[in-house]
Amino acid sequence: MNRRDLLKSASLLPLVPTTNELITTLPATARKRSLRFAYIGDTHIFPDKKPMDGVAKCFQNVQEQRDKPAFILHGGDVIMDALKEDRDKVQKQWDAWHSVSKANNSLPIEYCIGNHDIWGFDGAKADPMHGKKWAMDQMQISGRYRSFNKGGWQFIVLDSVQPKADGGWYTGGIDPEQLEWLKGELSKLDKKTPVLIMSHIPIVSVTGFAFATNVKDGNWQIPAGIDLPDASQLITLFYEHPNVKACLSGHMHLLDRAEYNGVSYMCNGAVSGNWWKADTYQQTHAGYALFDLYDDGTIERQYISV
Ligand SMILES: [Fe+2]
Repeated sequence: MNRRDLLKSASLLPLVPTTNELITTLPATARKRSLRFAYIGDTHIFPDKKPMDGVAKCFQNVQEQRDKPAFILHGGDVIMDALKEDRDKVQKQWDAWHSVSKANNSLPIEYCIGNHDIWGFDGAKADPMHGKKWAMDQMQISGRYRSFNKGGWQFIVLDSVQPKADGGWYTGGIDPEQLEWLKGELSKLDKKTPVLIMSHIPIVSVTGFAFATNVKDGNWQIPAGIDLPDASQLITLFYEHPNVKACLSGHMHLLDRAEYNGVSYMCNGAVSGNWWKADTYQQTHAGYALFDLYDDGTIERQYISV
């Protein structure tokens, strides 16, 4: 075949784009947005001017978005701390939350329980509200873990905060009963339904490596209160269910995104920054996130400093 014939036959071949071309030449309609929602977390509110004003400003920013989110997902640690406080002090923190949200927010809120939302006051162990019950009542959630569908995506909210073996609070973990429930939920879902998992404590996170205090005797030692000790088991479970696309977390007050086995593990900063002592914690500014979920299982996040 001479050069002319070669060129002629080559022109009949379908054009095979390079990977980069494939990405840039895909039509914009290749995926459709299923849902936009706002993630806010680690608000740590208490009845002082700074946290009250700060949470109000965050809510207002969410409401003012031209491309408005459908709802708010709160990643936990709504209030400053219920762990060792008496009833009166805890009630005042929940009241602060409800008054600010009522005055500044018109969107529905879905909640995940954070470690600081749990009432661990020693003197109230016999009180029916002790532990997670009070937080669940305030959040008006049906259970400490649950699942719901929005925009074609399945949201699975986990309870990642557990008592230590000696009964003291707290450590990170998914208890056996909850793990069985999670396996059942994933099994019964249509394999085409994309899944977003929310846990207050991260399942997988880069943020533990931001703290030199996690190096002990020359080795990294990431506590269970930073990354769930069940991570390996969960990673294996998600590998068996590739429709699990994203795992969101709070707790660390830091912003990261780790991609592993096709799952985006995302820690999402904090509205309170450094627990209202400063606007920035480590290198993450106080803020919240806007999430866009697409029908092809992809997810995009925009972090907004407040
Ligand atoms: Fe927190």
